[in-house]
Amino acid sequence: MEQFRICGGKKLTGEYELTGAKNAVLPILAATIVTGHESKIKSCPNLSDVQSMFTILKEIGCKVTKEEDGVIIDTKPINSYVIPEHLMREMRSSVFLMGPMIARCGKATLSYPGGCEIGLRPIDIHLSALRKLGVTIKESHGFLECTADRLVGCKIHLDFPSVGATENVMMAATAAEGETRIINPAKEPEIIDLQSYLNTCGADIKGAGTEEILIRGKKSYHQAEHNVIPDRIEGGTILAAVAMTGGDIVLRNAIPEHMSMTLSKLREAGCKIREGNGFVEMIAPERLNAIETLKTQPYPGFPTDMQSQYLTLMTMARGTSIITETIFESRFKHVEELMKMGARIKVDGRTAVVKGVDKLTGARVVSKDLRGGASLVIAGLAAEGETIVENICHIDRGYDRFELALRKIGADIEREVTHDKN
Ligand code: EPZ
Repeated sequence: MEQFRICGGKKLTGEYELTGAKNAVLPILAATIVTGHESKIKSCPNLSDVQSMFTILKEIGCKVTKEEDGVIIDTKPINSYVIPEHLMREMRSSVFLMGPMIARCGKATLSYPGGCEIGLRPIDIHLSALRKLGVTIKESHGFLECTADRLVGCKIHLDFPSVGATENVMMAATAAEGETRIINPAKEPEIIDLQSYLNTCGADIKGAGTEEILIRGKKSYHQAEHNVIPDRIEGGTILAAVAMTGGDIVLRNAIPEHMSMTLSKLREAGCKIREGNGFVEMIAPERLNAIETLKTQPYPGFPTDMQSQYLTLMTMARGTSIITETIFESRFKHVEELMKMGARIKVDGRTAVVKGVDKLTGARVVSKDLRGGASLVIAGLAAEGETIVENICHIDRGYDRFELALRKIGADIEREVTHDKN
């Protein structure tokens, strides 16, 4: 097991360059299956979730070749439509391999992705949408056996703008006869990046980022090169870390419009922010102001993936905040750990009331999920004394050597290997 040891109280300051977005590159790596050709994916971040996706692609016969400036995926030699159960368990978001696998092979077998640390993560919206396209899905013994002799384009209304379901339908519909219209799709920037990658391979998709996405099925694709968009959540997390310590930062390779709600809430808390083409500059105040209420919403609303980080900021703000998590049903697991550090938080269902305190004190805390774990690091950066964050494998899923990134801007943080007592 590994842990972070953090010595709090240092202002973070400097410059930081964002890497490629985890939630853009994962569906794009899955989408390479559609083309049956080589794709070069640039700005591919070095994350454990990305390594898991590479393992799955190799397991089904694809070739993965890492190069200096990116990774080349050749999906011509694909030789299986079965996603091994142990790999599905390793990364539940491989559920969006269904769409591309069905588009390419006409079938897909995978185990039910199941829930994770932040919620049950049902896939009913994925399944009902794929069935409308003509996919037969047999659910038995925890497995999904998908077959489709013919995919026929149609109008699909998503009950909820699910990111994964939107991506699965977009990828499956690339092989459907005629037109598919997705009504009420997710509008995240990562959906637009998937559209841009698929169109570079020869697909005909329009409307990503709007109320309706139109996909015209195509028979053949070609090789492509794609540069993944920068990670808006990595950017928001770094800004939160700097704001927690009263520091200042210039984020490079950033797309401010992808972060607009995060930036607006940081301004509301008292941060001075200047944004421009490819950068965000922020100067944080000595102490943040609490914002009355904050609600997570689908994009362009405040992102659920920034809720834990923002809640952590509010633990030392001036005043009381009410934070509501509307997207996932158990995304407050970092709260009990923050309370060990002296935070004053009351959780009632999907709402947390955070009363700002003058200081947090270092403690031994346990990371329970990716963004909650990153938030415990953020708390440790500002806490008095030493904080140990255990179980940092969660954090490695979404941040590339988080400790090195933070050290670059002045944090006193080390990664340590611990030997289990039992
Ligand atoms: C994607 O997950 C992201 N993951 C998540 O990021 C992100 O939090 C989420 O979108 C929302 O923005 C990746 O892109 C790999 P959803 P996804 O389908 O696709 C319910 C991170 O920290 N739902 O939009 O699984 C679901 O239970 C991760 O980087 C159904 O009910 O999210 C949830 O409550 C965490 N039925 C809500 O919708 C379905 O069929 C949002 O889920 C599908 C979803």
